Amino acid sequence: MTKQTAIPTGIDLREEIDRLRKERNAVILAHYYQKPELQDLADFVGDSLELSKKAAETDADVIAFCGVKFMADTAKILSPEKIVVLPDMDAGCSLEDSCPPDKFRAFRERHPDHIALTYINCSTEVKALSDVIVTSSSAETILSQIPADQKIIFGPDRHLGGYLNRKFNREMLLWPGVCIVHEAFSERELLKLKAEHPEAPIAAHPECPPHIIDHADYVGSTSGILNFAKTFPGDTLIVATEPHIIHQMEKALPEKNFIGAPGADGNCNCNICPYMALNNLEKLYLCLRDLEPRIEIEENLRVAAKKSLDKMLELAAGTIGKGDLGRV
Ligand code: 13P
Ligand code: SF4
Repeated sequence: MTKQTAIPTGIDLREEIDRLRKERNAVILAHYYQKPELQDLADFVGDSLELSKKAAETDADVIAFCGVKFMADTAKILSPEKIVVLPDMDAGCSLEDSCPPDKFRAFRERHPDHIALTYINCSTEVKALSDVIVTSSSAETILSQIPADQKIIFGPDRHLGGYLNRKFNREMLLWPGVCIVHEAFSERELLKLKAEHPEAPIAAHPECPPHIIDHADYVGSTSGILNFAKTFPGDTLIVATEPHIIHQMEKALPEKNFIGAPGADGNCNCNICPYMALNNLEKLYLCLRDLEPRIEIEENLRVAAKKSLDKMLELAAGTIGKGDLGRV
């Protein structure tokens, strides 16, 4: 058995994680799509923008990132002096996979008069090839600061890009990537669910395709959807994003009813992000104990990628914690 997989029998993982967190001066950051037990152990739970901001500001020596690799990479780009560990290095993202850096570079070269506005769900190499990074909670604020006549390429999420194009009457050229999780929602099943709960509003993430977004009463990032859940006046909300976020809603509003939007057979697990699901308590314990797997980024690449992330943090100032793309 390798060092990475050897967990002593009989230990209380939560207690050990707590002990290691103090011993290592570590901060545990978790995304809303993580398993409830990881969200509950984290020092901070947030959306991509909030987690990037925390990573940039923390005075901890170690960042244990319960999320996917592009998020942990972002933490390392912004805080290179910290040790950044990710419980499972295979926790990728279909959007990142859809956008190989060499193809993205060629796309940019074919459009030299365009700037590259790029969703944070991409590799460090693609960040280094971009002008400004956005998250779903900062995209609106950032796009509204770019002059209307500036030509833009937007990647890798064609649904978020399409949503922004429609909402802001822009003609950004879109990279053809999608999130496999948000693609899996079924319009037919959503309408059946809505017919059973006609009073329930639908809150959707902008990574959803237009046939889902068109039925939404609210469209926003994970933290935007959470804010909406905390403020909508009714009793029942239909949630069209990865269902682990419902944990935070049920904690904040135990008297309300939150229903995950269905996939094609009405009752599948296809809306659980398979990458986020790779992290668990055991792997968090091991990465805090062994300080691996560790994120390492070549320095020239990191510095190049940091420029587009710094631009995001500068242009997004004021949106942190609001998580809001707004109503449709
Ligand atoms: P948020 O920035 O809204 O948390 O989205 C991250 C993500 O990966 C959604 O699939
Ligand atoms: Fe990537 Fe989709 Fe998973 Fe978010 S939910 S990390 S976009 S695959």
